[in-house]
Amino acid sequence: MITLREVSLSDLPEWSRAHQSAYFRHPTRIDASIHEAWFAPGELIGAYDGERCVGTLRCSPYELSVPGGTTIPAAGITNVAVVHTHRRQGILHTMMKTALQSAAQSGRAIAILIPTEYTLYGRYGFGPSIRSRRIEVDNTGGGTLRDQVESDHKGEIRNITAEETRHIGPQLYDRFRETQVGATQRKSAWWSNLTEEWFLTRRAVQPFYVTFRDSRGDTTGLVVYSATLLESERKIRFNLNVVENIFLNQESRDALWRFIFSLDNVSHVAISNIAIDDPITELLREPSLATTQFSHTAWLRILNLPEVLSARTYARDGRLRIKVNDQQGYCDGSWEISVTDRKALVSPVSGSVDIEIGIDSLASLYMGGGNAMTLCSAALIKEHSPGSTMLLNEMFRTPVAPWLPPNGLELV
Ligand SMILES: CC(C)(COP(=O)(O)OP(=O)(O)OC[C@H]1O[C@@H](n2cnc3c(N)ncnc32)[C@H](O)[C@@H]1OP(=O)(O)O)[C@@H](O)C(=O)NCCC(=O)NCCS
Repeated sequence: MITLREVSLSDLPEWSRAHQSAYFRHPTRIDASIHEAWFAPGELIGAYDGERCVGTLRCSPYELSVPGGTTIPAAGITNVAVVHTHRRQGILHTMMKTALQSAAQSGRAIAILIPTEYTLYGRYGFGPSIRSRRIEVDNTGGGTLRDQVESDHKGEIRNITAEETRHIGPQLYDRFRETQVGATQRKSAWWSNLTEEWFLTRRAVQPFYVTFRDSRGDTTGLVVYSATLLESERKIRFNLNVVENIFLNQESRDALWRFIFSLDNVSHVAISNIAIDDPITELLREPSLATTQFSHTAWLRILNLPEVLSARTYARDGRLRIKVNDQQGYCDGSWEISVTDRKALVSPVSGSVDIEIGIDSLASLYMGGGNAMTLCSAALIKEHSPGSTMLLNEMFRTPVAPWLPPNGLELV
């Protein structure tokens, strides 16, 4: 019989072994240390067959920034794995049900995860909500950015050490996430992952850390990148991989992108996770220099509908009666959303409704990056009163696209 239980620090090596083996990795000391660094009591679920751990899931508290500059309590779910011998027996199903129930009971209004398997989580009420991009730019000819991009800033580009990054990075990032819809806080283990030597031994290359400090001495941007040598070339050439790009304003963004694209001997620049509306492709001399892939889509699961909907602000006032279909029952029922002065009052109603929508599709709209008209065309919204989908769309849209910079949920 399979039983679920909370994982203590002494259970961690066995839990870690199960997690590694699900991803075809034999356990190593480094991997176990990484799990130790992320460990917090009460966050790990293990599924056990006797004393053998056969399923893993981490559910950690986060704060998620929503439109309007506030945050809501979220449950970040990751490390979902079931060992090869125990799959398709309902272990994920039981772990997810347990995690969502305890998240809701402990006051988490929403759950968030970054799936590697897109077909898995819709059945639990998750919907794709926050997209980001991976961009690769051909830098072979040089002069990759348009001349208009500011090159004579008054600030200072500084190469800093890993240790300095552990100090400066979290302060900069906390200022950034206050205004970035879709961002969460980063735990200290995330910064260790970026900067500490024992974490970095998992990677083939050591990164460089570069900040922008403006004329008042305020640090307003950080990029982190590593380079790999292209052996086959006759000349010395590198591919650059930018793994961190955090900017508080346009000055730091322009200065640091210009810095990156002016590095000598770099054939290609890959930016592994960049906001949908970062103007990088518009800064290029030719848009065709870039190839773009959508990556790291974060999925949301609304657990407390009145709390979640009344936390954010809206682009316009209006009133809608919405029937929400939620098989797990957390938000199932009919609701009136009445928006005045950009804030919503949300209350249960009975009788006829304007719109019918699944809880997963509502999650796709929540952060402002979705399009209700498209969902309606795809039969994911049923419109009962004409014009209500358009109103829903206009209310939920945001001027800035949501973005979730890496926060650890993407690490498997
Ligand atoms: C994905 C994984 C966690 C599923 O665990 P599991 O215990 O076998 O899943 P369950 O038996 O509880 O299945 C739950 C549901 O998901 C479906 N499902 C399971 N694995 C699936 C897969 N790989 N693709 C699509 N559907 C899948 C099941 O059919 C079941 O559907 P139902 O609700 O309609 O009955 C497991 O296969 C695994 O560890 N894979 C490798 C690691 C991984 O991909 N983790 C997910 C990271 S996002």
